[in-house]
Amino acid sequence: MERSLQAELLDELPADDPRAVGSRRDLRRINALMGNARLMARAVRGAASQALPRRIVDLGAGDGAFLLGWVRRMPSLAPGTEVLLVDRHAAADAGVVTALSARGFRPRSVQADGVEWLRTQPAETGTWVLANLFLHHFTPERLRELLSAIAEKAELFCACEPHRGGWPLAASRMLGLIGANAVTRHDAAISVRAGFQGRELSSWWPANPRWRLRERRAGLFSHLFLAQRM
Ligand SMILES: C[S@@+](CC[C@H](N)C(=O)[O-])C[C@H]1O[C@@H](n2cnc3c(N)ncnc32)[C@H](O)[C@@H]1O
Repeated sequence: MERSLQAELLDELPADDPRAVGSRRDLRRINALMGNARLMARAVRGAASQALPRRIVDLGAGDGAFLLGWVRRMPSLAPGTEVLLVDRHAAADAGVVTALSARGFRPRSVQADGVEWLRTQPAETGTWVLANLFLHHFTPERLRELLSAIAEKAELFCACEPHRGGWPLAASRMLGLIGANAVTRHDAAISVRAGFQGRELSSWWPANPRWRLRERRAGLFSHLFLAQRM
């Protein structure tokens, strides 16, 4: 399947539009079905046993529910860790922010374009960047820019995206069965066609032997990428 990009409705709708609110609720169930928080927690556990992050950045965080699910699977994370939820929409759920604070983290939501925001950030030791269902929005050219910025600022990057293939596409067309709304049903098939296969993301990561890259199909529907600075 050739990779193709089309505009997604959720990116265009105001965060408080009821269709966007409904679609973000659908995303919680879709993330549960895809198992992305579990897959990403498992992927980074080895790195966490060597050095814990001091600052976690979630690009395209949406309501933050994915990040909260990931954090819950990472019991070794230290209290006081800064947690940044970056999204172009002010979509962070107040309950999620409260739950992150209650676990001892220092959460902050940032409304900004993820690529431009990252460029303005200092390279701080102990920064981990995460992205769930975010990278597929971008052309290869923009992805090269984004991945280069991440490689400059972070010590670890982990992403989970749709696997671009027949089975995930078929499943995306069945989301009506779990009650997904029209925005989610529209965006899901587009997301799969814009998803990834093989070692595409690795090929767009800046060539640098200091980074160890892993990329593979994961779970039933996902594509996992891990970059770790050695
Ligand atoms: C499919 S949603 C995924 C949200 C969240 N990561 C999750 O798993 O529920 C994609 C998110 O990326 C955000 N987004 C899209 N393009 C963006 C950009 N250039 N900068 C920041 N956020 C962006 C959208 O607003 C949306 O919240």
